Amino acid sequence: MRKVMIIFGTRPEAIKMIPIIKELNQQAGLQSIIVTTGQHRELVKQMLAKFSIESDIDLDIMAPQQTLTDITTRTLQRLEPVIKEIHPDIVLVHGDTTTTMAASLAAYYQQIPVGHVEAGLRTGDKYSPYPEELNRVIADAISDLYFAPTELSQQNLLREHHQENHIYVTGNTAIDMMKYTLTKNWSHEVFNQLPADKKLILLTMHRRENWGSKMAKVFAAMNQFVNEHEEVAVVFPVHPNPIVQKLAHQYFDDNDRVQLIKPLDVIDFHNLAARSWVVLTDSGGIQEEAPALKKPVLVLRESTERPEGVTAGVLRLVGTNPDVIKTMLNHLLHDEVTYQSFLTNQNPYGDGQAAQRIVKIIAQWLLKEGDTDCASNY
Ligand code: UD1
Ligand code: UDP
Repeated sequence: MRKVMIIFGTRPEAIKMIPIIKELNQQAGLQSIIVTTGQHRELVKQMLAKFSIESDIDLDIMAPQQTLTDITTRTLQRLEPVIKEIHPDIVLVHGDTTTTMAASLAAYYQQIPVGHVEAGLRTGDKYSPYPEELNRVIADAISDLYFAPTELSQQNLLREHHQENHIYVTGNTAIDMMKYTLTKNWSHEVFNQLPADKKLILLTMHRRENWGSKMAKVFAAMNQFVNEHEEVAVVFPVHPNPIVQKLAHQYFDDNDRVQLIKPLDVIDFHNLAARSWVVLTDSGGIQEEAPALKKPVLVLRESTERPEGVTAGVLRLVGTNPDVIKTMLNHLLHDEVTYQSFLTNQNPYGDGQAAQRIVKIIAQWLLKEGDTDCASNY
């Protein structure tokens, strides 16, 4: 049995690693060992429980108001003995969080090969998103196998001279996850209580570079827009980060047409997104899911590492300028042609088979001792 150690710590990593864990469990010759860092204690536990997955080892690093240094040092320190004792054949990390970066480094220090799922995303600006851009550059510098979700991310890796025959275009496992979440018979009290004639704006905002005045301006703009348009309602599942919580409550507690709710589990989130009118977000993962759901997404960021959705026409970068956001929402509300222009049949992020491809490549690599060719690209 070859040992595949899957290390993750936050909500989006858990969501996009679950399809891989499910595939690994079906793969002969490979044993999966799940290590959670605990960077997101509740969010990840909630997620894994929904899918009857348990972590084998939890490093329990989370602290209120944790700094980037806290996350990095605790992950490195607590992972070292775990990796030494288990000595996996490969460590799999996902995406661009500080867990991702620190776990890659911890594996490298023990000279264990690293596979990076969702490799090669770039904005080219190390402060946008911060610190994710540098986290993924570091993870890619360390990695031995690259699972690039799109051809564009493959090109980014080639431009940085990563080894060509170790890069595989697989699609994004976010799309695979939707096979397990979307359902016609979904019901949820928040959705059930919304008047049927309201257009639902689903809002999420949590990024570090938006904390403070940028987030405050967006929240003020949303209050104004909702107050001026009876026909819309906003639901905002608020990230547990106390900084985000405080600002959200400060701006929205007095507005009963903006509902602040606890973070939804991924099944509820995907189903609510599928029933919304527009999604407004600074999230990375939601930019991938929305094209699959055919929902217009206004991205509350200045740049995106997921430009495929912008090209396909389903994502629009609106930044955090209140006037731009309100103007765009007005267009969507009053101009059906604009709204329809967002709805695309193109889903640039995958076909729902990414996890299967990734596990097949890992199996070939570990069980046949060495390189595979790129034939698995789709
Ligand atoms: C992290 C990632 C970010 C990712 C986001 C996804 C880093 C530096 N940031 O940002 O890339 O987009 O997750 O959501 O890796 N908290 C809880 N319970 C939880 C989770 C969080 O209470 O289950 C609170 C804690 O007080 C914690 C705070 O949220 O200190 C912030 O969490 P942290 O992981 O540091 O930053 P995020 O903004 O969540
Ligand atoms: N998500 C969720 N519940 C919520 C909000 C988001 O399950 O209340 C999911 C969403 O479907 C996506 C992922 O969380 O798959 C995105 O996570 P987040 O926005 O926290 O992080 P990012 O993708 O920006 O790193």
